[in-house]
Amino acid sequence: MLDIVNLNKTFGKTKVLADINLKVGRGEMVALIGASGSGKSTLMKHISGLVAADRDSGHVAVGGRSVQCGGLVCGDIRKTRTDIGVVFQQFNLVSRLSVTTNVLLGALGRTPLWRSLLLAFRQGDRELAVEALRKVGIADKADQRASTLSGGQQQRAAIARALVQKASVILADEPIASLDPESSIMVMELLRKLNREEKITVLVSLHQVDYAIKYCTRAVALCCGRILYDGPCESLTAEKMKAIYGLGAAGMFESARAEHRHQVPAPSAGMPVGEMGENALGAWVQGGTCLGQQKCQHPACRSMSGGSASHRESGPQPGGWSAVDGHNGGIGAQRLLAAI
Ligand SMILES: Nc1ncnc2c1ncn2[C@@H]1O[C@H](COP(=O)(O)OP(=O)(O)OP(=O)(O)O)[C@@H](O)[C@H]1O
Ligand SMILES: [Mg+2]
Repeated sequence: MLDIVNLNKTFGKTKVLADINLKVGRGEMVALIGASGSGKSTLMKHISGLVAADRDSGHVAVGGRSVQCGGLVCGDIRKTRTDIGVVFQQFNLVSRLSVTTNVLLGALGRTPLWRSLLLAFRQGDRELAVEALRKVGIADKADQRASTLSGGQQQRAAIARALVQKASVILADEPIASLDPESSIMVMELLRKLNREEKITVLVSLHQVDYAIKYCTRAVALCCGRILYDGPCESLTAEKMKAIYGLGAAGMFESARAEHRHQVPAPSAGMPVGEMGENALGAWVQGGTCLGQQKCQHPACRSMSGGSASHRESGPQPGGWSAVDGHNGGIGAQRLLAAI
């Protein structure tokens, strides 16, 4: 459903995405995790064609349609975007419009200009909006102004908008970052329900690893713009979390893991493994240099004095952890973990 090949992105002199290769199968629900500044939002913007990759770099396709290729966003991106629902942390509703009208904005991609300008949506789309609001559980709020909804309700309206859009993929960029725990659970359960019942593919970026473990079968972890882990949430260990987030993550992770262990599906359940790539199952899939960004929370980066110059590529090491080794210029996983 999502196919990203050799994607690179540089802002100024800073490389923020490096050699991203990622496949997400139809009907998967995948958590995109990683420290602040690791590139999650940037990757999502590339998938929706809002940002173009470096010149001559990479290819992104959604549902078999090209989004961008070689640093150029495809000419028919508007058509492709109708398939991609985007949900943001800040909801992105038009506050002075009614909830129903906001939800109907999802139909703009297939609505003629004159109808769009007059907000004269077709009857069929109006019926879809009513149904979408019912599905997300806020049918009773249909006529209220969006600004009068709580955060959790606004996020559910944003998801209803994606339903009216008839998106087959939802990219949710930190959809629960502004919500209290109860609303967060509601929104994550809603995404999971749509994933399971409507077969919508979901890529959701999360800072809360416990939610990733609870709701997603697969996690993709970014560190300094590289994919450091791609595999079942079940196989995320405390050591891997340390490598992704740095010291302190492991304890937090273990308690989340203990809490949710009984709810996590088996690694293979509902997961089209064949579409996850050769090294996908629980593997550190992409070794290589750390980008040495200032924001990087990686212990290897924090312990290094100034950047990427001394980092080197490193291949897989016996016993695994190749990306950790690669990240640290070949110091070795055991020594790295001992150091933290
Ligand atoms: N338009 C831009 N111009 C320059 N740098 C940018 C731009 N957009 C993103 N960046 C940089 O790219 C890096 C990745 O940013 P991004 O927003 O993708 O991180 P993130 O993983 O989503 O972080 P967070 O978890 O805090 O949302 C950051 O260092 C950021 O400063
Ligand atoms: Mg972000």
